[in-house]
Amino acid sequence: MFSKTILQYLLFALIVSAALSENSLLTTTGNSEQAAKTAECVLKLSAKYFVEKKALSGSIVIININSYASTTQVLLLKTIHGGIKYSVMVKDSFYHHANASHFPEKAKNYMLILEEKSELTRNILQLNKLPTWNPLAKAIVFYQLNKTEDAEETAIEFINELRYYKLYKSIIFIYSSEEEEVISYTWSPYSDTNCGGKCDSVYILDKCKENVIRELSTQKEMFPSDMKGCPLVTYAVVSEPYVLPPERKLTSTSFNDSYVFQKGGEINLVRIISQFTNMSLIIRTSDIAENWGSVYWNGTATGAYNILIQESTDLVIGNIEVTRTIRKWFNPTVSYTQDEMTWCVPRARQASTWNNLVIIFQWSTWVATFGSLVIMGLVFHYLYYRENSKKVTKWPTNSLLMTFSMLLGWGATFEPRSATFRILIFGWLCFSVNMGISYESFLRSFLMHPRFEKQISTETDLIQSRIPLGGREIYRSYFETNNASSFYLYRKYNSTTFAEGIKRAAQDRNFAVVSSRRQAVYQDQKLGRGKPLIYCFPESDNLYKYGVVLLARKWFPMLERFNNIIRSVSENGLIDKWNQELFIHTVSGEETNEIEPLSIQHLLGAFMFIGFMYTASIVVFILELCYGTIEKTRSRKSWQPVYRRKKIRLPINL
Ligand SMILES: *[C@@H]1O[C@H](CO)[C@@H](O)[C@H](O)[C@H]1NC(C)=O
Ligand SMILES: *[C@@H]1O[C@H](CO)[C@@H](O)[C@H](O)[C@H]1NC(C)=O
Ligand SMILES: *[C@@H]1O[C@H](CO)[C@@H](O)[C@H](O)[C@H]1NC(C)=O
Ligand SMILES: *[C@@H]1O[C@H](CO)[C@@H](O)[C@H](O)[C@H]1NC(C)=O
Ligand SMILES: *[C@@H]1O[C@H](CO)[C@@H](O)[C@H](O)[C@H]1NC(C)=O
Ligand SMILES: *[C@@H]1O[C@H](CO)[C@@H](O)[C@H](O)[C@H]1NC(C)=O
Ligand SMILES: *[C@@H]1O[C@H](CO)[C@@H](O)[C@H](O)[C@H]1NC(C)=O
Repeated sequence: MFSKTILQYLLFALIVSAALSENSLLTTTGNSEQAAKTAECVLKLSAKYFVEKKALSGSIVIININSYASTTQVLLLKTIHGGIKYSVMVKDSFYHHANASHFPEKAKNYMLILEEKSELTRNILQLNKLPTWNPLAKAIVFYQLNKTEDAEETAIEFINELRYYKLYKSIIFIYSSEEEEVISYTWSPYSDTNCGGKCDSVYILDKCKENVIRELSTQKEMFPSDMKGCPLVTYAVVSEPYVLPPERKLTSTSFNDSYVFQKGGEINLVRIISQFTNMSLIIRTSDIAENWGSVYWNGTATGAYNILIQESTDLVIGNIEVTRTIRKWFNPTVSYTQDEMTWCVPRARQASTWNNLVIIFQWSTWVATFGSLVIMGLVFHYLYYRENSKKVTKWPTNSLLMTFSMLLGWGATFEPRSATFRILIFGWLCFSVNMGISYESFLRSFLMHPRFEKQISTETDLIQSRIPLGGREIYRSYFETNNASSFYLYRKYNSTTFAEGIKRAAQDRNFAVVSSRRQAVYQDQKLGRGKPLIYCFPESDNLYKYGVVLLARKWFPMLERFNNIIRSVSENGLIDKWNQELFIHTVSGEETNEIEPLSIQHLLGAFMFIGFMYTASIVVFILELCYGTIEKTRSRKSWQPVYRRKKIRLPINL
């Protein structure tokens, strides 16, 4: 709506200015009838070329003229505006264009009407700054030859100028006043002899004279489906399993950093793309590990991004996640797979085994059991003592041992006579059955299934564990939010390379690393040789998910083709297949429920206990001896032997 108003205003202004100048310029600009015919020709021809497979309605055509328009230009514009059924934007490169960032659509066609050769650069530079700028659009240039110029040379000159600004799809209309005809020239950027290099030859598409079009040749595909071995330069950042390290260096190419890569999902993908398009694949890489580099909002870049921004490569691959800045400076392909950003921490160790025998019950159960044991032991002893007419020892030790023996399901020699005693014994035996069976079955399962320490598996655990954390610098900004836990993570975040971080998590076990899940799982396989060393948070505790893309340079003309190839490869399930192939070990390696043979480790608690008890009884025995000798020297009455006999039985009963 807005652009239309502007256009109408502009047209009006132009017509007025042209009308004003017409009288004075009538003689110099030549005959206006001829100009009208030319305009018709240009209109017909451009309508022919603008249409490209898809319907054109709705796409914008930007027409560039200058404001001191000649009769021809005004007529042209008038005719075009009258005849074309799509939206037209008219620009004048003499004036600054107003801020138009509200206009999101990209131009599909450009038409540049030149009065002088030198105008071309200025016009392109103006279009270049508009938000509608799209070098993949078709560009038609209209120029009227003067008497000394050669049509073909002029066309080549224009085409090369357009090529410099990445406008490859160019058609040049040359009007020669001698022949009174419009000739359209174009070129093939990719041919047997050219791989997008400078134009050195053109061919004629049509000639238009007296409103009649004569077609000399049909337009060849600018980016043919067979690229005839033109190079596809790719810069790979090694990031397993997307790009596995290169096998050897290549010396035969024009790049001193090209290598032979064999494995990796993205290596497979670019290889397939190069096969589909018949391009020769060159894969470059850097000696520096993880050399993605970074790209700033102002266009300064380092590492691989710097190489891409300077356009000495077509693609950068290696698990690339698109950010806003990246989207500003480069053109990503469609995402072909998903990956997740998550925390990976050391996998929880097997819990210590010495306390296997104790940890079976909670402490309260133990306390209650031993409390019952002591109380029942004392009660039994009281009853036993009374029933045996107080002929037995007053010490309850033996009775306690008997009670314990019942608890463990062995026998006892109480010989109860009173009903109370018998009922109590019966009750105790029933209790013992339960306890004994519970203990035994729990112990059995504890011995068979390894126990683990508590696994850090959420962000809260992570913060509580106070483990050092970090990852690649670019992920730090994710925690830059106003929220207590993020603030902690942001403050503690330690910048390190991915490889270093994952190694610290897996081998030194003292680091939590922010990592792509797939890369982490692959590294875990590699470092642990099948034995899992790290634990990545479950999907529900991911930081985020992202689509993995290949990154092409800005306005890479083959991007649409590549996208189509990637889509069909992905629809055919090849990408899933590659992903599975690389993770083949996980299936067999993890979750193997082997039953470990019991080792002394598992039974350490029992051995420790018996050792402790032996020591205790030896100490008591020695103390008794000492006490005995002291007593003897004082020659007092002694009941020691009874006591000693019972104490010695203690370990045996156990
Ligand atoms: C253009 O306008 C938008 C808002 O409409 C503003 O954000 C932007 O900074 C402006 N750009 C220039 C170059 O003035
Ligand atoms: C024709 O164009 C050339 C180069 O653009 C220029 O040098 C020459 O003066 C022009 N001749 C006339 C007659 O305008
Ligand atoms: C691929 O390009 C080469 C030239 O490098 C050509 O010889 C070959 O025929 C092309 N292959 C196909 C399938 O078109
Ligand atoms: C490759 O060549 C470029 C210059 O063309 C040079 O700057 C760079 O250091 C060279 N790299 C290697 C690994 O030799
Ligand atoms: C772009 O920004 C980066 C970091 O903000 C800075 O180091 C660099 O000097 C800037 N480059 C230019 C050309 O301003
Ligand atoms: C902090 O932000 C993260 C994501 O940015 C979110 O998962 C978490 O629940 C937030 N915590 C609080 C306490 O708001
Ligand atoms: C990063 O790690 C080093 C060594 O582990 C430590 O000294 C340093 O304090 C850490 N930095 C932050 C910001 O936690």
